Amino acid sequence: MKKILITGGSGFLGGYLVKAAGARFETFTTCFRNLPEYKKITWQQIDLTDAGNIRNMIEKIRPEIVIHNAAMTNVDLCEKQKRQTQQTNIRASKLLAKYSAAIGAKIIYISTDLVFDGKAPPYSEKDRPNPLSFYGWSKRQAELAVAAANPNHIIARPAIMYGPPAISGTSFSEWMRDFWQNQKTTKLFTDQFRTPIYAGNLAQAVLELAEHSFTGIIHIAGSERIDRYQFGLLLAHRLNRDEKYIQPVQMKDISLPGVRPADVSLQIDLARKILKTKLLDCKAGIQAAYGNKNKQTFLST
Ligand SMILES: NC(=O)c1ccc[n+]([C@@H]2O[C@H](COP(=O)([O-])OP(=O)(O)OC[C@H]3O[C@@H](n4cnc5c(N)ncnc54)[C@H](OP(=O)(O)O)[C@@H]3O)[C@@H](O)[C@H]2O)c1
Repeated sequence: MKKILITGGSGFLGGYLVKAAGARFETFTTCFRNLPEYKKITWQQIDLTDAGNIRNMIEKIRPEIVIHNAAMTNVDLCEKQKRQTQQTNIRASKLLAKYSAAIGAKIIYISTDLVFDGKAPPYSEKDRPNPLSFYGWSKRQAELAVAAANPNHIIARPAIMYGPPAISGTSFSEWMRDFWQNQKTTKLFTDQFRTPIYAGNLAQAVLELAEHSFTGIIHIAGSERIDRYQFGLLLAHRLNRDEKYIQPVQMKDISLPGVRPADVSLQIDLARKILKTKLLDCKAGIQAAYGNKNKQTFLST
């Protein structure tokens, strides 16, 4: 079995990656502030802003593949804590790429659709990034640093993710579910478009890439472009929730510290060409994420 190191297993996508990797790889993962209850794996609790920690971990585990997924992901917090974001998102990525290259390991860097400004969608891998937020900028700088430090790299750019937590963490669909569960209304944009992907589907694609000969940038997203309001309606229908809990709003109606682009839909032609994993549309993804069991749990509360 090959050894794989997944950073940020305690986060939302990390949980899916860890669970999906468990059966196929000798799997190692990290957490930082949150030590999950999940005991099928040994957690390495580590602060990735410390260069010595990164070096020691890589030299001790000596993985063949590193999936670098950990990051500061809160767009508004990144705007306020720029130094911490730089250390976590850029410097740690550069060091992980450097130390993985030194032992001949491949690195998959989990980037984001927010490297684009949203002015000319849908975006292919050949389009020029122009991030609007500090978070997006830090992820783009990390892409460049990883590519420069380790020639055996994949930059995987996912779109926004949804689904219940696999181990820990949360997603925008869970945020809506929490609101509706508390009889609260969610305000959802009718003019903000994404190509959302179920995190379980994304994890499957990323693990396929772990054993693929591909190197370079690849977009991994759901197969459907949709605005947040329409996505909310689909989720509400699946969860038997009344549409009255969703209020359509426009981006101009809400002010947030970190700027969000209007449309960062991703083209997935390359992923379709090289991957066996089928990238799902919203209806199929929501069905996979929130099957009958979840629906019953939700309705009984
Ligand atoms: N969520 C989305 O919709 C989305 C969309 C596109 C791309 N992405 C990218 O996908 C990846 C995963 O996103 P996510 O939403 O699943 O993230 P998340 O739930 O916020 O988890 C972030 C992970 O990073 C770890 N972490 C943060 N700071 C750290 C530090 N200083 N040292 C070590 N670990 C640290 C956290 O550890 P603790 O929790 O233990 O503190 C956690 O495991 C990220 O790279 C993100 O940029 C996310």
